[in-house]
Amino acid sequence: MFSWNKQTYKNKVVVITGASSGIGRSVALRVACVGAKIALIARRVDKLQETKKLCVKSGAEVVCYPCDLTVQSAVQIIFNKLEAQWGEIHLLVNNAGVSGGGEFGSEKSFTDFELLTSINYSATVHCTHCALPLLKKTGGTVFVNCSFWGLCPQPLLAAYSGSKFALRGFFDAFRHELKQHGVHVCVAYIAGIDTEMSSGNISSAKCANMFIRALLLRHSEVYVPQTNWSTYIFRTLCPQYTDRIAHEWMHDHLASET
Ligand SMILES: NC(=O)c1ccc[n+]([C@@H]2O[C@H](COP(=O)([O-])OP(=O)(O)OC[C@H]3O[C@@H](n4cnc5c(N)ncnc54)[C@H](OP(=O)(O)O)[C@@H]3O)[C@@H](O)[C@H]2O)c1
Repeated sequence: MFSWNKQTYKNKVVVITGASSGIGRSVALRVACVGAKIALIARRVDKLQETKKLCVKSGAEVVCYPCDLTVQSAVQIIFNKLEAQWGEIHLLVNNAGVSGGGEFGSEKSFTDFELLTSINYSATVHCTHCALPLLKKTGGTVFVNCSFWGLCPQPLLAAYSGSKFALRGFFDAFRHELKQHGVHVCVAYIAGIDTEMSSGNISSAKCANMFIRALLLRHSEVYVPQTNWSTYIFRTLCPQYTDRIAHEWMHDHLASET
């Protein structure tokens, strides 16, 4: 059993996007219990305050920044404030995201695509860009909560899958550039976590625990559940087989809707 190193994030600055619920909140609680300094970002003020209350109870120093991450000027202001307040960042947890499914081609689907791309991909890259000067000061870590659908394409989730594939491509390339500055990148490929976004059989607390373990071990990737890795390898080796299953699943799903 992995034992949590109490010193690791003690007094370290951790910035978490999408901290108002789900996995973001659970990651906040994990680092709060070792005494990190935490900045929480999301749009819903009341939910952010709930996360803050829980973290403060554990003895952490916490600031909330209610913000829509797709508004670039607002995000830059937050990082300016963080620089003035703490001067450095040790861990940026890029977690905020939205989901959305259905057949691509309906009237609404292109608007959905733009929304998914702007929050899941562009806002994550922009947040990282804003945080970089402060991460370079500490040789910190950029953590990216991607998705299993960023490894294996999923029909009826084309826009979501596409936004997560984009994340994976960007951060796998950028990882090499950051190495020379001592900044580490870790990308998470997850599925089936029980949150507002999806009903799954893995708790967000367990998922957060696995993230922190991977971060402490400076892993470049983390798979939750771990079987996502073997499924990905199987898909890479036998794409015709897994694509046929995906295709059949889609037909069954569409038929069950009519
Ligand atoms: N749950 C799963 O099984 C699963 C699987 C694969 C990947 N993921 C990824 O895990 C991440 C966390 O999701 P979750 O499952 O914990 O769902 P969640 O509870 O719905 O969390 C999503 C978070 O993103 C924030 N957010 C969304 N749009 C935002 C915006 N424009 N600006 C600022 N914050 C925004 C939400 O806060 P506000 O609404 O308050 O802004 C919320 O805190 C997402 O990136 C998701 O794609 C989850």
